[in-house]
Amino acid sequence: MKLESDNLLTDKVIEVTSLLTSIVNNYAPACFSSSFGAEDMVLIDMIFKYAPEIEVFTLDTGRLPQETYELIQKVIELYHQPIHIYFPESDDVEAYTQTHGPNGFYQSVELRKKCCHIRKVLPLKRALLGKKSWITGMRREQAITRKDLPLSEWDSEHKLEKFNPLITWTRDDVWNYIKKYNTPYNILHDQGYESIGCAPCTRAITVGEDIRAGRWWWENADTKECGLHKN
Ligand code: ADX
Ligand code: SF4
Repeated sequence: MKLESDNLLTDKVIEVTSLLTSIVNNYAPACFSSSFGAEDMVLIDMIFKYAPEIEVFTLDTGRLPQETYELIQKVIELYHQPIHIYFPESDDVEAYTQTHGPNGFYQSVELRKKCCHIRKVLPLKRALLGKKSWITGMRREQAITRKDLPLSEWDSEHKLEKFNPLITWTRDDVWNYIKKYNTPYNILHDQGYESIGCAPCTRAITVGEDIRAGRWWWENADTKECGLHKN
Protein backbone atom coordinates (compact mmCIF):
# COMPACT_ATOMS: atom_id res chain seq x y z
CA MET A 1 0.00 0.00 0.00
CA LYS A 2 2.79 2.36 1.02
CA LEU A 3 4.68 1.59 -2.20
CA GLU A 4 1.56 2.18 -4.29
CA SER A 5 0.88 5.62 -2.80
CA ASP A 6 4.56 6.43 -3.15
CA ASN A 7 4.39 5.61 -6.88
CA LEU A 8 1.25 7.71 -7.30
CA LEU A 9 2.98 10.64 -5.65
CA THR A 10 6.02 10.18 -7.88
CA ASP A 11 3.74 10.25 -10.95
CA LYS A 12 2.11 13.45 -9.75
CA VAL A 13 5.51 15.03 -9.09
CA ILE A 14 6.69 14.11 -12.60
CA GLU A 15 3.51 15.62 -14.09
CA VAL A 16 3.98 18.89 -12.23
CA THR A 17 7.69 19.22 -12.96
CA SER A 18 7.12 18.61 -16.66
CA LEU A 19 4.33 21.20 -16.64
CA LEU A 20 6.69 23.69 -14.96
CA THR A 21 9.33 23.03 -17.62
CA SER A 22 6.81 23.52 -20.38
CA ILE A 23 5.67 26.81 -18.80
CA VAL A 24 9.29 28.01 -18.76
CA ASN A 25 9.67 27.05 -22.43
CA ASN A 26 6.37 28.39 -23.72
CA TYR A 27 5.08 31.05 -21.34
CA ALA A 28 8.12 33.02 -20.15
CA PRO A 29 8.39 35.23 -18.21
CA ALA A 30 6.55 33.09 -15.69
CA CYS A 31 5.90 33.69 -12.01
CA PHE A 32 4.56 31.82 -9.01
CA SER A 33 2.62 33.53 -6.21
CA SER A 34 3.31 32.03 -2.81
CA SER A 35 1.42 32.49 0.45
CA PHE A 36 3.87 30.08 2.14
CA GLY A 37 1.11 27.60 2.94
CA ALA A 38 1.76 23.85 2.49
CA GLU A 39 0.75 23.66 -1.19
CA ASP A 40 2.93 26.63 -2.02
CA MET A 41 5.91 25.05 -0.26
CA VAL A 42 5.55 22.00 -2.53
CA LEU A 43 5.66 24.28 -5.58
CA ILE A 44 8.51 26.40 -4.23
CA ASP A 45 10.56 23.25 -3.69
CA MET A 46 9.89 22.00 -7.23
CA ILE A 47 10.45 25.39 -8.84
CA PHE A 48 13.75 26.05 -7.08
CA LYS A 49 14.96 22.53 -7.92
CA TYR A 50 13.68 22.08 -11.47
CA ALA A 51 12.48 25.40 -12.92
CA PRO A 52 14.35 28.26 -11.20
CA GLU A 53 13.62 30.57 -14.15
CA ILE A 54 10.14 31.02 -12.67
CA GLU A 55 10.02 34.11 -10.46
CA VAL A 56 8.68 33.35 -6.98
CA PHE A 57 6.89 36.21 -5.29
CA THR A 58 4.80 36.83 -2.21
CA LEU A 59 2.37 39.59 -1.31
CA ASP A 60 3.35 40.94 2.07
CA THR A 61 0.13 42.52 3.29
CA GLY A 62 1.87 43.89 6.38
CA ARG A 63 -0.45 41.70 8.47
CA LEU A 64 1.18 38.30 7.96
CA PRO A 65 1.78 36.05 10.98
CA GLN A 66 5.27 36.03 12.49
CA GLU A 67 5.49 32.30 11.61
CA THR A 68 5.17 33.15 7.91
CA TYR A 69 7.96 35.73 8.09
CA GLU A 70 10.11 33.10 9.82
CA LEU A 71 9.41 30.65 7.02
CA ILE A 72 10.19 33.21 4.30
CA GLN A 73 13.53 33.89 5.99
CA LYS A 74 14.24 30.16 6.27
CA VAL A 75 13.41 29.55 2.59
CA ILE A 76 15.72 32.36 1.45
CA GLU A 77 18.57 30.96 3.56
CA LEU A 78 17.93 27.34 2.54
CA TYR A 79 17.50 27.62 -1.23
CA HIS A 80 19.65 30.71 -1.90
CA GLN A 81 17.09 31.84 -4.48
CA PRO A 82 15.33 35.19 -4.60
CA ILE A 83 11.81 35.71 -3.27
CA HIS A 84 10.25 38.90 -4.60
CA ILE A 85 8.25 40.61 -1.90
CA TYR A 86 5.52 43.04 -2.94
CA PHE A 87 4.03 45.52 -0.49
CA PRO A 88 0.81 47.56 -0.69
CA GLU A 89 0.98 51.28 -1.47
CA SER A 90 1.53 53.09 1.81
CA ASP A 91 -0.92 55.90 0.85
CA ASP A 92 -3.73 53.34 0.40
CA VAL A 93 -3.02 51.64 3.74
CA GLU A 94 -2.80 54.98 5.54
CA ALA A 95 -6.12 56.18 4.08
CA TYR A 96 -7.87 52.91 4.96
CA THR A 97 -6.64 52.75 8.54
CA GLN A 98 -7.33 56.47 9.02
CA THR A 99 -10.95 56.03 7.90
CA HIS A 100 -11.83 52.55 9.16
CA GLY A 101 -9.23 51.81 11.84
CA PRO A 102 -6.51 49.14 11.73
CA ASN A 103 -9.04 46.31 12.07
CA GLY A 104 -11.88 47.83 10.01
CA PHE A 105 -12.13 44.59 8.01
CA TYR A 106 -14.17 42.94 10.79
CA GLN A 107 -17.00 45.45 10.33
CA SER A 108 -18.42 44.25 7.00
CA VAL A 109 -17.70 42.03 3.99
CA GLU A 110 -17.32 45.21 1.97
CA LEU A 111 -14.61 46.62 4.25
CA ARG A 112 -12.91 43.22 4.41
CA LYS A 113 -12.79 43.05 0.63
CA LYS A 114 -11.54 46.63 0.46
CA CYS A 115 -8.64 45.76 2.76
CA CYS A 116 -7.83 42.67 0.64
CA HIS A 117 -8.01 44.86 -2.46
CA ILE A 118 -5.49 47.35 -1.11
CA ARG A 119 -3.17 44.86 0.54
CA LYS A 120 -3.33 41.97 -1.97
CA VAL A 121 -5.14 42.63 -5.23
CA LEU A 122 -3.40 45.88 -6.22
CA PRO A 123 0.10 44.58 -5.34
CA LEU A 124 -0.74 41.41 -7.31
CA LYS A 125 -1.39 43.54 -10.39
CA ARG A 126 2.10 45.03 -10.05
CA ALA A 127 3.64 41.59 -9.57
CA LEU A 128 1.96 40.23 -12.71
CA LEU A 129 2.73 43.18 -14.97
CA GLY A 130 4.74 42.05 -18.01
CA LYS A 131 4.40 38.32 -17.17
CA LYS A 132 3.15 35.77 -19.70
CA SER A 133 2.07 33.25 -17.08
CA TRP A 134 1.07 33.03 -13.43
CA ILE A 135 1.22 29.86 -11.34
CA THR A 136 -0.80 29.32 -8.15
CA GLY A 137 -0.99 26.55 -5.52
CA MET A 138 -4.78 26.20 -5.55
CA ARG A 139 -6.42 22.76 -5.29
CA ARG A 140 -9.98 21.75 -6.21
CA GLU A 141 -10.55 20.10 -2.84
CA GLN A 142 -9.93 23.34 -0.95
CA ALA A 143 -13.26 25.09 -1.37
CA ILE A 144 -16.64 24.95 -3.07
CA THR A 145 -15.53 27.98 -5.07
CA ARG A 146 -12.57 25.91 -6.42
CA LYS A 147 -14.21 22.59 -7.30
CA ASP A 148 -14.13 23.20 -11.08
CA LEU A 149 -10.71 24.84 -11.20
CA PRO A 150 -8.97 24.16 -14.55
CA LEU A 151 -5.30 23.21 -14.94
CA SER A 152 -4.82 26.33 -17.01
CA GLU A 153 -6.95 29.19 -18.29
CA TRP A 154 -6.60 32.57 -19.94
CA ASP A 155 -6.76 35.28 -17.30
CA SER A 156 -8.35 38.12 -19.21
CA GLU A 157 -7.96 40.57 -16.35
CA HIS A 158 -4.19 40.22 -16.08
CA LYS A 159 -3.74 39.19 -19.72
CA LEU A 160 -1.73 36.05 -19.12
CA GLU A 161 -2.10 32.28 -18.86
CA LYS A 162 -2.88 31.14 -15.33
CA PHE A 163 -1.75 27.68 -14.22
CA ASN A 164 -2.94 25.67 -11.22
CA PRO A 165 -0.60 22.63 -11.29
CA LEU A 166 -1.90 21.07 -8.06
CA ILE A 167 -5.64 20.93 -8.89
CA THR A 168 -5.89 17.14 -8.47
CA TRP A 169 -3.59 16.90 -5.46
CA THR A 170 -5.18 15.78 -2.21
CA ARG A 171 -4.23 17.10 1.19
CA ASP A 172 -2.35 13.80 1.76
CA ASP A 173 -0.39 14.25 -1.49
CA VAL A 174 0.77 17.65 -0.28
CA TRP A 175 1.88 16.40 3.13
CA ASN A 176 3.43 13.22 1.74
CA TYR A 177 5.53 15.39 -0.57
CA ILE A 178 6.59 17.65 2.29
CA LYS A 179 7.61 14.63 4.41
CA LYS A 180 9.29 12.74 1.58
CA TYR A 181 11.40 15.67 0.38
CA ASN A 182 11.93 17.21 3.80
CA THR A 183 10.44 20.49 2.58
CA PRO A 184 10.23 23.34 5.11
CA TYR A 185 6.66 24.31 6.04
CA ASN A 186 4.75 26.84 8.06
CA ILE A 187 4.62 25.72 11.70
CA LEU A 188 1.11 27.16 11.96
CA HIS A 189 -0.01 23.94 10.25
CA ASP A 190 1.11 22.04 13.39
CA GLN A 191 -1.29 24.24 15.37
CA GLY A 192 -4.35 23.31 13.28
CA TYR A 193 -4.13 25.97 10.57
CA GLU A 194 -5.28 24.49 7.26
CA SER A 195 -4.52 27.50 5.10
CA ILE A 196 -2.20 30.41 5.68
CA GLY A 197 -3.35 34.00 5.36
CA CYS A 198 -3.18 37.26 7.28
CA ALA A 199 -2.90 36.92 11.07
CA PRO A 200 -6.13 38.75 12.01
CA CYS A 201 -8.21 36.88 9.40
CA THR A 202 -6.99 33.30 9.76
CA ARG A 203 -7.43 30.85 12.64
CA ALA A 204 -6.91 27.17 13.39
CA ILE A 205 -9.76 24.77 12.62
CA THR A 206 -11.01 21.79 14.62
CA VAL A 207 -11.66 18.20 13.46
CA GLY A 208 -14.62 18.03 11.08
CA GLU A 209 -14.57 21.70 10.16
CA ASP A 210 -14.35 22.72 6.52
CA ILE A 211 -10.82 23.41 5.19
CA ARG A 212 -11.69 27.08 4.61
CA ALA A 213 -13.40 27.48 7.99
CA GLY A 214 -10.31 29.18 9.38
CA ARG A 215 -10.39 32.01 6.82
CA TRP A 216 -12.65 35.03 7.50
CA TRP A 217 -14.58 32.72 9.83
CA TRP A 218 -17.18 35.38 10.55
CA GLU A 219 -18.33 35.38 6.88
CA ASN A 220 -20.40 32.89 4.79
CA ALA A 221 -18.52 30.24 2.76
CA ASP A 222 -19.51 31.83 -0.56
CA THR A 223 -17.82 35.17 0.16
CA LYS A 224 -14.51 33.64 1.23
CA GLU A 225 -12.26 34.76 -1.58
CA CYS A 226 -9.96 37.72 -1.31
CA GLY A 227 -10.16 38.87 -4.90
CA LEU A 228 -6.81 37.38 -5.97
CA HIS A 229 -8.71 34.66 -7.83
CA LYS A 230 -11.95 35.32 -9.70
CA ASN A 231 -13.26 31.75 -9.87
S1 ADX B 1 -6.75 33.20 -0.86
O1 ADX B 1 -7.08 33.73 -2.19
O2 ADX B 1 -7.88 32.67 -0.14
O3 ADX B 1 -5.90 34.09 -0.06
P1 ADX B 1 -5.26 30.78 -0.55
O4 ADX B 1 -4.65 31.15 0.75
O5 ADX B 1 -6.18 29.62 -0.60
O6 ADX B 1 -5.90 32.02 -1.28
O7 ADX B 1 -4.13 30.61 -1.61
C1 ADX B 1 -4.41 30.28 -2.96
C2 ADX B 1 -3.26 30.74 -3.82
O8 ADX B 1 -3.28 32.15 -3.88
C3 ADX B 1 -1.90 30.36 -3.28
O9 ADX B 1 -1.51 29.07 -3.69
C4 ADX B 1 -1.05 31.45 -3.89
O10 ADX B 1 -0.72 31.12 -5.23
C5 ADX B 1 -1.96 32.66 -3.89
N1 ADX B 1 -1.77 33.50 -2.68
C6 ADX B 1 -2.56 33.60 -1.60
N2 ADX B 1 -2.08 34.48 -0.72
C7 ADX B 1 -0.93 34.96 -1.25
C8 ADX B 1 0.06 35.90 -0.83
N3 ADX B 1 -0.03 36.57 0.32
N4 ADX B 1 1.11 36.13 -1.64
C9 ADX B 1 1.21 35.50 -2.83
N5 ADX B 1 0.32 34.60 -3.27
C10 ADX B 1 -0.74 34.33 -2.50
FE1 SF4 C 1 -6.83 42.70 5.20
FE2 SF4 C 1 -7.63 40.44 6.38
FE3 SF4 C 1 -7.61 40.68 3.69
FE4 SF4 C 1 -5.34 40.49 5.08
S1 SF4 C 1 -6.95 38.91 4.84
S2 SF4 C 1 -5.72 41.88 3.42
S3 SF4 C 1 -5.84 41.71 6.93
S4 SF4 C 1 -8.89 41.79 5.18
